Amino acid sequence: MLRYGRFMSRNQRLTQRRPISSDALAEAARLIRGGDAVAVPTETVYGLAADATNATAVAAIYAAKGRPSFNPLIVHVVDVAMAETIADLSPVAKALAAAFWPGPLTMVLPLRDDATIAPAVTAGLPTIALRVPNHPVMQRLIRESGRPLAAPSANRSGGISPTRAEHVIASLDGRITMVLDAGATADGLESTIIAPEAESIRLLRPGPVGAETIGRVAKLPVIASTTLEAGTAPVAPGQLDSHYAPTKPLRLDALRAEPDEYLIGIGLMPCQYNLSEDMDLREAASRLFAALHQADASSFARIAVAPIDAVGIGVAINDRLRRAAA
Ligand code: TXA
Ligand code: MG
Repeated sequence: MLRYGRFMSRNQRLTQRRPISSDALAEAARLIRGGDAVAVPTETVYGLAADATNATAVAAIYAAKGRPSFNPLIVHVVDVAMAETIADLSPVAKALAAAFWPGPLTMVLPLRDDATIAPAVTAGLPTIALRVPNHPVMQRLIRESGRPLAAPSANRSGGISPTRAEHVIASLDGRITMVLDAGATADGLESTIIAPEAESIRLLRPGPVGAETIGRVAKLPVIASTTLEAGTAPVAPGQLDSHYAPTKPLRLDALRAEPDEYLIGIGLMPCQYNLSEDMDLREAASRLFAALHQADASSFARIAVAPIDAVGIGVAINDRLRRAAA
């Protein structure tokens, strides 16, 4: 009897995978209000969302991911008005918000003194990373829970970001209560992260919103700041050299596969996984992490990836590949 009881309680800790419905959303909102972390789709990747104002809930995110506590979290809000209760938006930040929110742009902004965000969210920094996601499920969850939601990508720290509920389960099964399943995410790469400053915009992580578009809206130069200077603390995950990493060795700019390699290709080439036969970089970005997950789970010992043009979102694809290979 006792053994059976133990078995049951272990079973109950398996992660529920729930297709989107009003019931599933209401349950997710209830879990979040109760201080739990729930995996949720966004337009970029699945996030592991919890109440950003609740220190215990934020601790649950760090624990489930095994994330180092010096790496701060992105907070998701429903609109600019909610953002302004948490951070100070300069006129340039407001112009960027008007142009790109809701959408895959995260801004690192000065944290307001009266904001009620749990200190662990910002890892002690005087700034906070905010974005308004453009996914109906995440938007409804913020509204229904009535809280700003801290949400890093829903994977073990350092691993490949999840673009499908299956990826979340593969990485976090048993470590979280629920994943809301809305199928594959549209963009497939994490949001662009910028820090608007007085005379320039610092680009901390390239992503779906390109640097040129940001520069045009801000009317300021965009300065790439994705490489970490020796001895300084990392300020964005892109600045940790090894990140988004599969467990297998990864070779870049491969034109053909060695016998033990799983080849991720693009265009008309023989390969195990084609990112986009039409060489469409948006399509390639949306499929990149699924390709890496599949390659990692395959019987091949190593992974090779074909060269990808570094134009438009190709800049972000190459950034993720370089760090996956590091
Ligand atoms: O698309 C995305 O941004 C996804 C979805 C779920 O929204 N989220 C995501 O979160 O990629 P995460 O935690 O994996 O990456 C966000 C990074 C953090 O690792 C951190 O380094 C950086 O944003 N960040 C957060 N707060 C910051 C701050 N105050 N200053 C500089 N960087 C910050
Ligand atoms: Mg991440």
